[in-house]
Amino acid sequence: MEHDARYTVAFTALLCVVCSALVSAVAVGLRERQEENRQLDRMKNVLAVSGLVEPGERQERAEIQRRFAEGLEPRVVNLATGAFVEDVDPLAYDQRKAAADPDTSRPAPKNPARVRRLPEHAVIYLLRREGRVEGIILPVEGMGLWSTLYGFLALEADARTIRGLTFYEHGETAGLGGEVDNPRWKALWAGRLAFGDDWRPRITVEKGRAGTAEADPYGVDGLSGATLTSNGVTHLLHFWLGDHGFGPYLAAYRQGGGGQAPGSERRRDR
Ligand SMILES: Cc1cc2nc3c(=O)[nH]c(=O)nc-3n(C[C@H](O)[C@H](O)[C@H](O)COP(=O)(O)O)c2cc1C
Repeated sequence: MEHDARYTVAFTALLCVVCSALVSAVAVGLRERQEENRQLDRMKNVLAVSGLVEPGERQERAEIQRRFAEGLEPRVVNLATGAFVEDVDPLAYDQRKAAADPDTSRPAPKNPARVRRLPEHAVIYLLRREGRVEGIILPVEGMGLWSTLYGFLALEADARTIRGLTFYEHGETAGLGGEVDNPRWKALWAGRLAFGDDWRPRITVEKGRAGTAEADPYGVDGLSGATLTSNGVTHLLHFWLGDHGFGPYLAAYRQGGGGQAPGSERRRDR
C-alpha cells in the first residue's frame, strides 16, 4: 500500500515536470512566431493608413511584405532633435520596449494624453513613390477611457494634411470607444488639417457632427456615447504632433530635411 502511494506521488511529480517542460517549450517556440505576427500586423496597419491596401482587403504574408518593402521606408528619428538616426535598425527596433526601459527613455512631461515615458528614438515610415515622399506615417499612442490606444497617423507630403488614422491596439468598449476602428469613422479623417497656420496642432475630435473636410478642416465627428475616448484621440494627436513628440522632426522636414527632397536620403539596405 505504502509502495503504491509512493509510486503515485512519484508518477504525479514526473507528470507535472514533463507537462511544465512541454508548456514552457511551446511558449518559447511560439514567442518568435507571435513577434513575427505582431510585426506583420503592424506592417498591415501602416500599409492601410498609407492607402497601400484598401480597407477590408486581405493579403498573404508575402504580399504584405512586398508592398511594405516597395512603398515604405522605415526611418529611426531622435524625438528630441528630430534628426534621423542611422545606426539603429528600424525593423529590429522595438519602440514600446524602449519606452519602458529607463536606459532608452525619459519621463514625459505631464500631458493630457497620459503618455508617461518618451523613448529616445521612434520609428516613422516615409511613403515613397519614384523617390518622392508622398506621405509620412507616425506612430501615436495615448489614453482613451479604459486603455492606451496605439495607432498610426498618416500625413500627406505637406506634413499638414491628414491622409488617415488607424489604431491597431486598444481596450475601449466595443460599440462605444471601440468605434475608433469603424471604417466609416476612419474615413472622416482624410483631407483634414492636423496643424493650423501657425503649425500648432489643431485637429480636434468634436462632440457631435463636424462638416466636410473643406467646411471643417480641423474638426472630426465625435464617437457617439464615447466622448472620453474621442477626447483621448484629440489629446494623443496633439501630444505626438507637438514639441515632445514629432514636432522637431516635422519642423526639420518642412525646412528641407527629414527625407523629403528627391534622393536626399539613401535607402538603407534591407
Ligand atoms: C460599460 C460602459 C462602457 C463604456 N465605454 C466607454 C468607452 O469605451 N469610451 C467612452 O468614451 N465612453 C465609454 N462609456 C461612457 C462614458 O462613461 C461616458 O458616459 C461617455 O464617454 C460620455 O460620452 P457622451 O457625452 O458622448 O455620451 C462607457 C460607459 C459604460 C457604462
